[in-house]
Amino acid sequence: MKIGIIGAGDVGGTLGKRWRQKKHEIMFGVRNLQSQNVQTLIEADQNLRFGDIKEAVAYGDVIVFAIPWASVEETILKAGNLSGKIVIDPTNPVTPDLKGLALDNTSVAEKIAKLANTDKVVKAFNTIGAKTLNNSIFDSNRADLFICGNDSHAKRVVEELAIDIGFDVVDVGPLVNARMLEHLALLWIELAFRQQLGPNIAFKLLRRKAEF
Ligand SMILES: NC(=O)c1ccc[n+]([C@@H]2O[C@H](COP(=O)([O-])OP(=O)(O)OC[C@H]3O[C@@H](n4cnc5c(N)ncnc54)[C@H](OP(=O)(O)O)[C@@H]3O)[C@@H](O)[C@H]2O)c1
Repeated sequence: MKIGIIGAGDVGGTLGKRWRQKKHEIMFGVRNLQSQNVQTLIEADQNLRFGDIKEAVAYGDVIVFAIPWASVEETILKAGNLSGKIVIDPTNPVTPDLKGLALDNTSVAEKIAKLANTDKVVKAFNTIGAKTLNNSIFDSNRADLFICGNDSHAKRVVEELAIDIGFDVVDVGPLVNARMLEHLALLWIELAFRQQLGPNIAFKLLRRKAEF
């Protein structure tokens, strides 16, 4: 699959390298081709492509906005035509003190859907730390990846991309539930940093057959 990743930092860079290992075709859309992030990725894998944001959006069938949530709006305005593209939103609108969310009664994912005028937005990868994007295995368990969105085909594509890099996927329902996933990320941040469990933690939903 052709994937355009906007942002080449911890999340974008890690996803791009992992998907490339699974033979997906990756183009990063960046604002500065000379940045340290870009140079590190070029050294890591010469099959990764780089361009500006418009080029990466034109290239990908799937587009990932791996940038700070506050930059998403201006980036979409610069991005060119997103229609027909599956858009993955891993962002978290956390306040600078990491204690709360900066959005009320909406989510970044819903804002993207409105701005880009598309139903194919999938919230995903926001409740997973970058270290776990690189390695989803915890002893005998795989970390769960929670996703939500309104378009079932788009969700299936994202599910397959997540399974490719070792995640179990939990479909949380429609895009409005991105609000819950953004709050779940806040819990992850609280546990990892304020409660000092560190970034090598991930959520797992346990299930069993009904007992009567
Ligand atoms: N890190 C995590 O564990 C984690 C986990 C889940 C979700 N997230 C979310 O994922 C997103 C990316 O996080 P990250 O940790 O990958 O951040 P990061 O390492 O700081 O990387 C951010 C990337 O976004 C680019 N960027 C920043 N502002 C931009 C703008 N205005 N236009 C275009 N590109 C811009 C940066 O480009 P330059 O290199 O040019 O600065 C960099 O490539 C955030 O929304 C974060 O909340 C992070």
